[in-house]
Amino acid sequence: MIVSIVIAVIVIYLAIDWLTQKPNNFPPGPPTLPLIGSLPFMPRKLVHYTMAGEWRKKYGPVIGCMLGSMRMVAICGPQEVLEVLRRDEFQGRPKGDFFKDRSFNKYLGVFFSDGPFWVEQRRFTLRHLRDFGFGKKSMQDLIMDEVEDVIKEITKKETFQANGMFAVSTLNVLWGMLAGTRYSRDDAELKVLLKKLTRNFRAGNPAGGITASLPIFKKLIPGIIGHTEAMESLRDMQSFFRKSIQNHKTTIDENYLRDFMDAYLKEMNIQETNPDTTFTEEGLITICLDLFAAGGETTTSSIEFTLMYMVLYPEVQKAVHKELDAVVGQNRRPTLEDRPNLHYVEAVLTELLRVCSIAPFTPPHRTTKDTQINGYSIPKNTSIAICIYSLFQDKEHWGDPEVFRPERFLNSEGKYVKDDWMIPFGAGKRVCLGEVLARSTVFLFFTTLLHEFIFSVPEGDPPPSEIPLSGFTIAPQPFRLKASKRF
Ligand code: HEM
Repeated sequence: MIVSIVIAVIVIYLAIDWLTQKPNNFPPGPPTLPLIGSLPFMPRKLVHYTMAGEWRKKYGPVIGCMLGSMRMVAICGPQEVLEVLRRDEFQGRPKGDFFKDRSFNKYLGVFFSDGPFWVEQRRFTLRHLRDFGFGKKSMQDLIMDEVEDVIKEITKKETFQANGMFAVSTLNVLWGMLAGTRYSRDDAELKVLLKKLTRNFRAGNPAGGITASLPIFKKLIPGIIGHTEAMESLRDMQSFFRKSIQNHKTTIDENYLRDFMDAYLKEMNIQETNPDTTFTEEGLITICLDLFAAGGETTTSSIEFTLMYMVLYPEVQKAVHKELDAVVGQNRRPTLEDRPNLHYVEAVLTELLRVCSIAPFTPPHRTTKDTQINGYSIPKNTSIAICIYSLFQDKEHWGDPEVFRPERFLNSEGKYVKDDWMIPFGAGKRVCLGEVLARSTVFLFFTTLLHEFIFSVPEGDPPPSEIPLSGFTIAPQPFRLKASKRF
């Protein structure tokens, strides 16, 4: 009996050991232990600093890790990042419970799906976000409603906590496009939803976290790793979207589409008899979740960062005021049409995207066939972490990447010049679906708020820290602002 148990233990150990070993010619990386692979050596916070810094120096730009039995390759060199984003076989998304749990045990939505399903859903979503013209309001109108709301709030307060001021606004813009309604900043339901979204984000790890690496942990010790809690938040968000969908179903007029939900429900009806339809109610719920998760926190943090840097660099703020006065004047609000004429503003916003690097890694990609990069073998179904941040911090390319210097994007005539390495929204087939919306939202918030106010650090407060909070994406640490009317 004892002998059989010992043999069984040895066999299981060897099988696990074999599963967690690196494949032949796999890229170099941190050591690998039986069962847990490289997990003990993985950075816990601000992963991009370690991977694009110390690890890149030690292992090179292509780094191989074993997260339990899951192969993961981190791409941390600028040329390699650009190459991987271009190559088709790197455009899958990882498979596994972690990515299905969030969408009814299937691969739905646009964020974590791939193949023909993803192509169809992405195309539909993109078309309806880009051509957002149905309903009564344009994208610019929706954003400006929120800007005006924030201006009222700031005027009332004068000194305010920056974090938390804009989250309702950015979600309202998204919700306006998705479901045609907005929430007041005091709405209890929205406040709870926001708290859950933020918590899930800050607890996130770009590599997928321990449940993605060792799914068994989720079953053994769900409480310890917070998986159950994260799933509860997710279910709450799904019910929130489902309620709104039910409401749309009872009020839809297919000849007068009010928002994205109407457009999707109409497509569901058109394809009702198609046995291969990819348009389902669960799919719609997952797209809502994807857009909230991908668009809310990122855009909110971007607006917070823009104001934070204006108080840290008052001379830049002054130059922005000067350009706004010259181009927009004092008698009207800035609009998206002003954008091509606001060269300095464009340079400041681009430099902010570079130094802040809101999404230092793309969400994980997956290889869809056996392939190679820099001579290393990457087997099919390897998870790929792409470090966009490495492009933004390359000494050779930027000269002084650690310095905040918007002028690097201006030519000798003061005109804005594009740089091909500035891809904060990714590139290629998986490029951010909300890029136009995010850029427009940040532009309108930034220019209108700076047009209206001078921002400074409240007396007695320390200057905000440039060291960000960790998570799926980067956010500023809590800080307060003082706003004084300009005119
Ligand atoms: C400053 C704000 C934002 C930044 C920096 C950002 C950045 C990114 C990046 C780097 C990717 C990854 C591309 C890849 O996997 O290779 C991405 C994907 C995505 N983003 Fe954004 N994003 C922002 C705002 C938004 C907004 C407002 C929305 C929603 C309307 C959105 C929706 C998405 C979606 C759905 C994807 C997945 C696309 C796919 O896999 O096909 N993002 N974003």
